[in-house]
Amino acid sequence: MAQGPAKDVIIDVHGLTKRFGDRAVVDHVDLKVTRGEIFGFLGPNGSGKTTTIRLLCGLLTPDEGEGSCLGYDLRTQSAAIKREVGYMTQRFSYYEDLSIRENLEFVARVYGMANRKEAVEKALEELGLASRATQLAGSLSGGWKQRLALAASLLHEPKLLLLDEPTAGVDPKARRDFWEEIHQLSARGITVLVSTHYMDEAERCHRLAYIAYGKMLADGSPAELIAQSGLKTWALSGATALDLTMAIRELPGALQVVPFGTVVHVCGRDENILLPALQQFSQVHALTLASTDVKLEHVFIQLMQSSSDNFQLSSSIKSGAQA
Ligand SMILES: Nc1ncnc2c1ncn2[C@@H]1O[C@H](COP(=O)(O)OP(=O)(O)OP(=O)(O)O)[C@@H](O)[C@H]1O
Ligand SMILES: [Mg+2]
Repeated sequence: MAQGPAKDVIIDVHGLTKRFGDRAVVDHVDLKVTRGEIFGFLGPNGSGKTTTIRLLCGLLTPDEGEGSCLGYDLRTQSAAIKREVGYMTQRFSYYEDLSIRENLEFVARVYGMANRKEAVEKALEELGLASRATQLAGSLSGGWKQRLALAASLLHEPKLLLLDEPTAGVDPKARRDFWEEIHQLSARGITVLVSTHYMDEAERCHRLAYIAYGKMLADGSPAELIAQSGLKTWALSGATALDLTMAIRELPGALQVVPFGTVVHVCGRDENILLPALQQFSQVHALTLASTDVKLEHVFIQLMQSSSDNFQLSSSIKSGAQA
């Protein structure tokens, strides 16, 4: 058999396109996510992450493209998709004047669940919400609100979780707990697609996609994306390193120059040009030069910069053509 079992492909879409007016905010996106994968979705504000998520769970209809989610056709079976997907929206969308338990009971009713009481008690227990079950959702801190939202999206036992910036504004401990939960869900075979702006979260994903201006620009594991970027990073340290940041930015081949604590990180692609310049600069200014790891942040900043350059270029070509 040439092909693996189709049921292991949870999301499989091609050429997915959504226009608002004459602007394609999701522009021919291809996406394949397999069972149990934690798939991270990154990209600048307004790049089309939320719109893509809403297309995948059947809340929006694509203008072009086709594919399936959980084995259901995106265009013709959106009701079935909605029933089997857990969707945690970017903004908290539960009733602030209902308690945690009441909110969960409400969600259980919306899904028409038969075993509502047991399901709610189980969710309260499993997500550590039991001690606060009677607290009004409006009075919860960010971390607890996010925990309630996760519990609500898991209540009907979905096989696919779509999480749209689930930890925005949440403290590091609560975020770590949240990610532990995500990894446990993944180990149980639940597929998770999660959008985030946090690099530490991106590093916790099995696979990542980077989207800008509606176009998917990169896709792979964190290590693959770092390797594909062709970037190299050096650290300059010494008493005057930070004061020299502006001068370091002028060095040939320096694409990103970023103060990092007491050290300055310099990132570039062309080692043959950048490295000799750095060696000479560090000698002249009595700095220490060392090679250091390329981080996902460097990769994404580079993708963001080149995509905005391309966008500006194509916009100016268009406006030039009109003039
Ligand atoms: N219903 C709508 N009507 C018109 N434009 C819309 C609509 N929904 C989204 N947009 C526009 O589509 C683009 C993509 O929005 P989207 O919310 O998908 O981005 P995002 O990547 O989720 O951004 P963020 O990181 O800020 O959440 C934005 O320019 C947005 O203003
Ligand atoms: Mg969004």
